[in-house]
Amino acid sequence: MAEFVTITKQNGIGIITVDNPPVNALSPGVPEGIVECVNAGNADPEVRAMVLRGAGRSFIAGADIKFLGQKKTEAGLTYRTIIDDSAKPIVAAIHGYALGGGLETALACQYRVATESAKVGLPEVLIGVLPGGNGTQRLPRLIGPKAALEMIVTGRHVPAPEAHSVGILDAVSSDDGLLETAVKLAERVAEVRPLPRIRDNDEKLAEAKADPGMFDAMRKKIERRARNQKAPYHCILCVEAAVSLPFDEGCARERELFDELVMADEAKSLRYAFFAERQANKIPDIDKSVKGRDIDSAAVVGAGTMGGGIAMCFADAGIPVKLLEMNAEALDKGLAKIRANYETSVKRGSLAADAADTRMGLITPALEYDLIGDADIVIEAVFEEMPVKKDVFGKLDAVMKDGAVLASNTSTLDIDEIASATKRPADVLGTHFFSPANVMKLLEIVRGDATAKDVVATCTALSRRIAKVGAVCGNCDGFLANRSRAPFQTEMNILIEEGARPQQVDKVMVEFGYPMGPFAVGDLAGLDIGHAVRQRRKKEAPNEYRALPIPDRLFELGRYGQKTGAGWFNYKPGDRTPYPDPVVDQVIEEIGRQLGIEQRDFTDEEILHRLLFASINEAAKILEEGIAYRASDVDVMWLNGFGFPRYRGGLMFWADGIGVKRIYDTMKVWQERYGDRWKPAAMIEELAANGKGFLDD
Ligand code: NAI
Repeated sequence: MAEFVTITKQNGIGIITVDNPPVNALSPGVPEGIVECVNAGNADPEVRAMVLRGAGRSFIAGADIKFLGQKKTEAGLTYRTIIDDSAKPIVAAIHGYALGGGLETALACQYRVATESAKVGLPEVLIGVLPGGNGTQRLPRLIGPKAALEMIVTGRHVPAPEAHSVGILDAVSSDDGLLETAVKLAERVAEVRPLPRIRDNDEKLAEAKADPGMFDAMRKKIERRARNQKAPYHCILCVEAAVSLPFDEGCARERELFDELVMADEAKSLRYAFFAERQANKIPDIDKSVKGRDIDSAAVVGAGTMGGGIAMCFADAGIPVKLLEMNAEALDKGLAKIRANYETSVKRGSLAADAADTRMGLITPALEYDLIGDADIVIEAVFEEMPVKKDVFGKLDAVMKDGAVLASNTSTLDIDEIASATKRPADVLGTHFFSPANVMKLLEIVRGDATAKDVVATCTALSRRIAKVGAVCGNCDGFLANRSRAPFQTEMNILIEEGARPQQVDKVMVEFGYPMGPFAVGDLAGLDIGHAVRQRRKKEAPNEYRALPIPDRLFELGRYGQKTGAGWFNYKPGDRTPYPDPVVDQVIEEIGRQLGIEQRDFTDEEILHRLLFASINEAAKILEEGIAYRASDVDVMWLNGFGFPRYRGGLMFWADGIGVKRIYDTMKVWQERYGDRWKPAAMIEELAANGKGFLDD
């Protein structure tokens, strides 16, 4: 135990240090160590008070998720009570993170201080459980049920200054003055008796008695976001229990509700997603010895829809970025859009006005290539045309300094061909952002044939810095994300040709857990965009092109989607609700007749399976070709790029839940009925024959 937790003495203050790299997670052995040290401090007459802190980069960052759902050790269950019952005061000294079990440990201490850059929170809900270490009982007593409810139900990270103002922290120190501040506080409170124990103080709970509707109001508020999920509602039940039950009974209720969640599918899927995202950063042939390049500055070429959003990602992360355009007009337009985006955030209250100014100040406009040559990375986001891209990369090759990373945001073009426009293809790769680039989490990192390993490593590290979830894949048409998604897109149109209605398809997918149905998404993106893409494909790849006569007809009718007030659905001014339209039904029936396709009804299950199985088949081919390293990377991309419901784990995790054998059998029936687009990929055939899943070893 001494290997994880030690106690030293400094002028009568016992300093307890948890040292369990990398982030001092509460793995077995850590609670035992804390108990031993707290007992030692209490037994030592020279010790008047104690400080509990973490070694290395963080306080106790949280529970060890690897052990979640396993039986807790005796100390794992009781160490907080031992801290709480300590005869001498204990000051938690927090730097880095105190999340989940980390904050719950700090809440058991009598006092808490943190550095100004530290973050605290109870994010358990994000992995489908609830704070099971009495966090739901202590936090409402400390800051009031309303504020606690908000923190526990959203799981958000709270910055130290805010945590201080709501009363979670007693003091905030400079980043290098933490120990000194904690020790001073410990000295000051050494003789205070009785010690302030959160469990004993019910004063703040009165707030809920005055406003008993707050719990139902919260349930109502999360209705949409928490659809099909249990954990957020169980969190609310726990805070209700904190208000209505004595502390110990509330803790028992919390444990009961936690146990109900921890082994349920929701928590399993969310835990899986958590690990899948971490694994996505590990590339089989790139080990830790490959160091990424330093990125202290960036440049973006093209200030359109994507370029502007990408520049914001850098500015948001505090990285100075130059934004290059063809002419002053386009540049001004791009900058105005960025400014408007920040102003919206300020108006909404999610960004301070001075922070918006700081971020705007990090974006430097440029009209000459020479001005961007010193950037550590440049991301190209110009028109999606190979000659234009090659021209830009030729110019970048001429001006960018040695060692700069040259990235393209192309969504369809060949990265190797783009790289061939330079004399340094090893420095070139794809960094594919999703729209809107400043919001969507996914960064699809596309590795060309010649891309150097350290360039890939640079971008996986960069993805974290700019708050994205990075996942790497090889170079092919559509790369991993869009290529695996394309058959879903085709299939939804085929369903319509066969007589399904957009409103039924959308209802099925929303009930499954997508935030919006795919046809409503089409209306948001604009039917004109899809039409233009099809026209281009018809010209460029006539063999792979499949006509989609229904959306083409809607396009011809001027129904471009939300922007024209009508597309797959109708829209009323100022209202984004999609309303079904008999005109669309007529178009569907007419085209069905023209094509001679029998019109029929669909069960919800067939719709769901047709859409998702089509993509699973393509994803299997992508895996076979080695374009994807692992099935979980497909899931990471679908979760963060396409709004796939996280509590279902991801496309391939969901497929394994159904069973690859069952999917294979269904595909064989459909192959017979609908033709060879349903021919199962070889990988699916093999897995089905062996009774295995995509995620089995
Ligand atoms: P956009 O048309 O909104 O913006 C392109 C911008 O590049 C324009 O402002 C244009 O003036 C500028 N530009 C063109 N040639 C240039 C040059 N030689 N030098 C400097 N600036 C130049 O296009 P969007 O939608 O931003 O797309 C950009 C890239 O991102 C494309 O490769 C596209 O395929 C890709 N992409 C687009 C997504 C989307 O949803 N719009 C999603 C993911 C990738």
